[in-house]
Amino acid sequence: MEKLITVIEGDGIGPEVTKQAIRVLNAVAQQFNHHFEYKYHLMGAIAIDQTGTPLPDETIEACLNSDAVLFGAIGDPKYDNDPTAKVRPEQGLLKLRKSLQLFANIRPISTYAALQHLCPLKAERIQNVDFIIFRELTGGIYFGKKETSEDGNSAVDECTYNREEIERVAKLAFQYAQKRKKKLTLVDKANVLETSRLWRKVVKEMAPQFPDVTLDFLFVDNAAMQIIINPQQFDVVLTENMFGDIISDEASVLSGSLGMLPSASVGKGAVLFEPIHGSYPQAAGKDIANPIGSILSAALMLDHFGLHEEAALVREGVEWTLKYGFVSKDIDPTNFYFTSTIGELISDFVSGKIPSEIHKDNIELRKSTII
Ligand code: IPM
Ligand code: MN
Repeated sequence: MEKLITVIEGDGIGPEVTKQAIRVLNAVAQQFNHHFEYKYHLMGAIAIDQTGTPLPDETIEACLNSDAVLFGAIGDPKYDNDPTAKVRPEQGLLKLRKSLQLFANIRPISTYAALQHLCPLKAERIQNVDFIIFRELTGGIYFGKKETSEDGNSAVDECTYNREEIERVAKLAFQYAQKRKKKLTLVDKANVLETSRLWRKVVKEMAPQFPDVTLDFLFVDNAAMQIIINPQQFDVVLTENMFGDIISDEASVLSGSLGMLPSASVGKGAVLFEPIHGSYPQAAGKDIANPIGSILSAALMLDHFGLHEEAALVREGVEWTLKYGFVSKDIDPTNFYFTSTIGELISDFVSGKIPSEIHKDNIELRKSTII
């Protein structure tokens, strides 16, 4: 199979984690006789520095003309700490989502036996947790009218949704639920917000088209609590843009680290894969970031290409590193391996180079000495 992949490394740890995902994709290509071509483009703080804009037009063009986009991370503290900044890295990502019409962001939440000790919840609460968040990605408060008054003392962020925006993401979520445990939970704040009441109405109206799916509703404040006290109850969770942003970071705690979670954004053609974590600037360039969110995003990309066997092998490689304790600093702060070592091990696994009898001593040599 031949595929053209646009790579947007972005800011902070983006380049180093993306590099490992590509290393794994290359191992897959070699092992299964595929050809992946990569074209690199700019977005984020790095794009502002080099071109004056967070999202150059040529990046959008490249994404539209490729089979998939692999994205790293975005954000830089020099903008976070300056509320008056007119241009911000994040505007690049939001504009890209809008330009590519990536209206659904799919965030699978999985747990790993080897990481259970990192989750602050009791082990029995997170066993067999396996749900997926469908976050609406191109509407709501993120994209509504924004204004600060002239005197700088009041500000507004408008939240708007229309039927079509709700229906298209809800349809994907219903269809996904049909392939899983057939349960869909809409998370909203319909006791307070008009937009949430519209979500509830539209989603309820759609339910008869998916008679095998059980639909239920949770207010977002309650959902935030339920994710902690009873995460096993969820199968597919559907929600609007900002609630999805917040509850998916919360849900990442179940898997042990924010660094583990991948995502896929889909819409009217283009598809984009990215870890859900941010740019983690404190770690940038140190080879200590967790590359697994990016590597699992690459696995989602393989699934999207229909390469399910390949995707499963990558996931097996990830599980293998966790099982043997080849983990990054977010997972084990004292006994950790470099970002690049983990990428190398997973690509070696994909290439069949890991002997069944592992000689951990050989790998120990590649362990980090930074404490
Ligand atoms: C995410 C991020 C983005 C968002 C930021 C970087 C704009 O937090 O992808 O979850 O809020 O959507
Ligand atoms: Mn987020």
